[in-house]
Amino acid sequence: MNGRFITLEGIEGVGKSTNLRFVADLLQDRGHEVMVTREPGGTPLAERVRDILLDHADEPVPPLAELLLMFAGRAIHLENQIRPALEQGCWVVCDRFTDATYAYQGGGRGQSAERIGELERWVQREFRPDLTLLLDADPAVGLGRVGRRGESDRFEIERRDFFSRVRETYLDRARAEPSRMRVIDASLPLEAVQAEIRTEINKVL
Ligand code: TMP
Repeated sequence: MNGRFITLEGIEGVGKSTNLRFVADLLQDRGHEVMVTREPGGTPLAERVRDILLDHADEPVPPLAELLLMFAGRAIHLENQIRPALEQGCWVVCDRFTDATYAYQGGGRGQSAERIGELERWVQREFRPDLTLLLDADPAVGLGRVGRRGESDRFEIERRDFFSRVRETYLDRARAEPSRMRVIDASLPLEAVQAEIRTEINKVL
């Protein structure tokens, strides 16, 4: 594949959207064609799966079904959008990917990492991000920002301890794969966060 696949991760409210745009602009300034996308979602069909995952339904979503739906959406996104874009030489910047499944469905909801790993190998085979930027901050920082944004989705209503487990799982993954996954301190002022991001991006360019 000609393009590179870069993902942004982190708990709610750490500034992913702002920094996603920043990463895309940096790459574009260097002359790369860039596609920005997100998970769950990213294609019209996968966005319908996202709606199922995030909406508050009368019927509960069992944790195993939530995990399978995440990978169903990912299979659609990967085959219909991400792989074709990379094959055309596009750099793909994705708001969340499979690290989020380990963090939320694994750390948050208690699904085993082995089971998630099996699905990852089944759906993605060898495919992994070239670089993952983990925007890290205490849940108190992020959730304060989310609370001011309006109506909460099915994940945002979770309690502080859920997001603490999500954060710890992300950090464990970063410790296990330090060259792919770079931790950025998202509690710093935006200019400092973006200076760190620029340094990490420059390393892969
Ligand atoms: P977003 O609001 O950042 O777009 O993400 C939507 C929610 O989906 C967010 O709370 C995290 C959650 N999520 C998972 O639980 N597992 C996953 O694999 C992904 C990609 C997202």
